[in-house]
Amino acid sequence: MRFSLLLAGSAAASAYAHGNVDRSSFQAKCESFAHNIKVQDTTIHSVTHVPIGTNISMSNVPAACASNADSSSSTFEFCRVALNVTTSSKSEIFMEAWLPSNYSGRFLSTGNGGLGGCIQYSDMVYAANYGFATVGTNNGHFGDTGVYFYHNSEVLEDYAYRAVHTGVVVGKELTKRFYTEGFEKSYYMGCSTGGREGWKSIQKFPNDFDGVVAGAPAVNLVNLINWGARFLPTTGNSSAATFVTDAQWIIIHDEILRQCDDLDGAADGIIEDPDLCQPIFETLLCNPTAGADSSSCLTATQVKTVNTIFSPLYGNNDTLLYPRMQPGSELTAAYVYYNGQPFNYAEDWFRYVVYSNPSWDPASWTVNDAVIANAQDPYQVSTFQGDISEFQKKGKVLHYHGMEDPIISSDSSKMYYKHVADTMKLSPSELDEFYRFFTISGMGHCSTGDGAGSIGQGVGTFAGNDPQDNVLLSMVRWVEEGIAPDFVRGTKFNGTEVEYRRKHCKYPKRNKYVGPGAYEDENAWECV
Ligand SMILES: *[C@@H]1O[C@H](CO)[C@@H](O)[C@H](O)[C@H]1NC(C)=O
Ligand SMILES: *[C@@H]1O[C@H](CO)[C@@H](O)[C@H](O)[C@H]1NC(C)=O
Ligand SMILES: *[C@@H]1O[C@H](CO)[C@@H](O)[C@H](O)[C@H]1NC(C)=O
Ligand SMILES: *[C@@H]1O[C@H](CO)[C@@H](O)[C@H](O)[C@H]1NC(C)=O
Ligand SMILES: *[C@@H]1O[C@H](CO)[C@@H](O)[C@H](O)[C@H]1NC(C)=O
Ligand SMILES: *[C@@H]1O[C@H](CO)[C@@H](O)[C@H](O)[C@H]1NC(C)=O
Repeated sequence: MRFSLLLAGSAAASAYAHGNVDRSSFQAKCESFAHNIKVQDTTIHSVTHVPIGTNISMSNVPAACASNADSSSSTFEFCRVALNVTTSSKSEIFMEAWLPSNYSGRFLSTGNGGLGGCIQYSDMVYAANYGFATVGTNNGHFGDTGVYFYHNSEVLEDYAYRAVHTGVVVGKELTKRFYTEGFEKSYYMGCSTGGREGWKSIQKFPNDFDGVVAGAPAVNLVNLINWGARFLPTTGNSSAATFVTDAQWIIIHDEILRQCDDLDGAADGIIEDPDLCQPIFETLLCNPTAGADSSSCLTATQVKTVNTIFSPLYGNNDTLLYPRMQPGSELTAAYVYYNGQPFNYAEDWFRYVVYSNPSWDPASWTVNDAVIANAQDPYQVSTFQGDISEFQKKGKVLHYHGMEDPIISSDSSKMYYKHVADTMKLSPSELDEFYRFFTISGMGHCSTGDGAGSIGQGVGTFAGNDPQDNVLLSMVRWVEEGIAPDFVRGTKFNGTEVEYRRKHCKYPKRNKYVGPGAYEDENAWECV
């Protein structure tokens, strides 16, 4: 990684004290910012002043990232810098830095999703609106595809760790040059691949952040891909005897709720702790003597399929590679994984990373492919290091995972938590000093779901500025005031109306309904 930002001439600097902003001079400062930095190995594309009430332009967003664009009208004033940074002779990142006028003295990096490739603009809006000097990168390539990894391991290295870190180094430098007071604290917020990127920073660049909010992290990534690759050979295609139909997944979900919903004390359609749920699917076997109505029962072959889906993935020598899919997510997971189609991320990974063979057939996957993929683990992209003692010295991490996640099993987060505890030989109360993990019942992948899954993890899940309702502000309070969260309160919305709130527990505690109020009453629950 080679880049540097050099000041040309005298300091870039007129003073911008907190909360004392002269608007016309902010505009002038922004417009002159491009001239105040001389840049090596970076190409500044634009420096734009964005006043309150103007649409945020997405004209520089390539078509492959159109779904990530956010051209809402800005609710805050900021200086927007777009640039490319060279990361090797064969790779470069695109990044943006959003420098708000109402600056809080804090820096924040956002993350990515899937196979990366797009700035999460909604997260940029969310953080910059809170006054963070906010950066995001395209993770080394444009678009949610692995095709750019084909015969270019430099792009893969960007994806594994280098893009985010480069964005942080350059972004911090820009922040220091733009605001003479620099920044006081540094934060990270991301989910899914963004959650993995947060953990990668903790493991590899432990001084990058004071506080990390990491949701539904794609840690143990190569095995997550292996696990994702296993579904197609397990279900077969839609004409196979092993295949389970959408209609059957509905009865399977109902059966899971019948066996498990009230294990937490409340039959509310939400499984608080999937660990307690070990469903027996043989109850759904078709009666061979009655005329089998195939949508209301399962054949023995189909039961085997379902049992495999809810079993962990083991390697050739019985090593646990990846935990089972947690029960409760199947209505959505049926469309992601159990649809008889290749899982696109697994297909891309094996084609463009593992085998460099664009015609590799995803239906052919076996555990032998998992062994080969694991042996590669390029640039330690798996992000599964258990020793995070360097980060422990000054950082804090708030980890969360939805208990209805249909894409990344929440059991994987439990597995990683245990891995850190075992590796560092720390008890949960010792981990609490710097690492807290919250299980969010009724939340799907990073958001949505049937329950109280709005925890302020982004624009679409804003549920208030009270830190207990807002994982980002909760992290700021933990870092800056030393007040650590004991729970995360989620909100269930019906449209814009609050339907109910629930306090989600800090792992390894789990939520139990104790009454006397109805299940909608947050005080009728206890972490045990
Ligand atoms: C701003 O965005 C809104 C909705 O996204 C759109 O209707 C409107 O035409 C835009 N205004 C301008 C000036 O581009
Ligand atoms: C910036 O880098 C990306 C790769 O991350 C590349 O696709 C794009 O063409 C570059 N943009 C410019 C203007 O050089
Ligand atoms: C600036 O941010 C502070 C909190 O950091 C907030 O109270 C204030 O309303 C903001 N002012 C403007 C003009 O956005
Ligand atoms: C399903 O797989 C079988 C066996 O591989 C194949 O013969 C059949 O054409 C496939 N059907 C569909 C709908 O893809
Ligand atoms: C067991 O398999 C895993 C993954 O396939 C591999 O990483 C590990 O080295 C193997 N262990 C032994 C003892 O062969
Ligand atoms: C959701 O809101 C609609 C109308 O605003 C109302 O009719 C419905 O009963 C609400 N549902 C719940 C579960 O509160």
